[in-house]
Amino acid sequence: MLIDILTIFPEIFTPLEVSIIKRAKEKGLVKINIYNLRDFTHNKHKKVDDFAYGGGRGMVMKPEPIFEGIEYIKEKLKIKNEKLKIILLTPIGTLFSQKMAKELSQEKHLIFICGHYEGVDERVKTIVDQEISIGDYVLTGGELPAMVVIDAACRLIPGVLPKEAIEEDSFSTGVFDWPHYTRPPIYQGLKVPEVLLSGNHREIAKWRRKQAKERTRTLRPDLIKEVKNECS
Ligand SMILES: C[S@@+](CC[C@H](N)C(=O)[O-])C[C@H]1O[C@@H](n2cnc3c(N)ncnc32)[C@H](O)[C@@H]1O
Repeated sequence: MLIDILTIFPEIFTPLEVSIIKRAKEKGLVKINIYNLRDFTHNKHKKVDDFAYGGGRGMVMKPEPIFEGIEYIKEKLKIKNEKLKIILLTPIGTLFSQKMAKELSQEKHLIFICGHYEGVDERVKTIVDQEISIGDYVLTGGELPAMVVIDAACRLIPGVLPKEAIEEDSFSTGVFDWPHYTRPPIYQGLKVPEVLLSGNHREIAKWRRKQAKERTRTLRPDLIKEVKNECS
């Protein structure tokens, strides 16, 4: 998958240089380009924002650098619209979910537009395919939301992680992941459940399924209802 990011803070994206995303890039499964929106300005101070029409406090991100950034990427790659998905990070977008991460992981090319200030000029939305929010709160900029979406989608690209690891994750099966333990078997008097030390794989699988269901029912009963509704 090819990922392009348009931002005024390219230096923020160091989390995409470590761990699973780093390995995905090394394996050639993901390529990430980061573009500074200031490179697409035509004014002396490389200003990307301006006052809001209608007045009031707060600046708005100008449309030109964003439109030109997208055009530059398209021309550089000689691609047509249908081969890419342009995503705007915004608190008023569709709430991000594992289902959306799965859908995005199947795309060939994603472009992320990271807003700042009061957000981007509304006309930018005419070239956007999807508006995504990562939660009902307001962050300073779209960079952290872009990284959240990129991380969640990239780990689902075939070959990035073992298939079983992804299938067992919370939100993939309709129930949460089960509780995990590692060595030592007793730590500060806290014991690992006996069944996990038994070597009886059938019993272990049964215990895990039960735990997963129980903690989902307790913590997020709505998820169980969702699965039931989808099946009925
Ligand atoms: C300070 S926010 C703008 C908030 C905007 N004035 C509002 O109230 O909806 C600046 C930028 O951060 C990003 N952002 C902030 N919160 C976000 C969220 N929950 N999900 C996705 N992007 C977000 C967006 O790119 C947004 O344009």
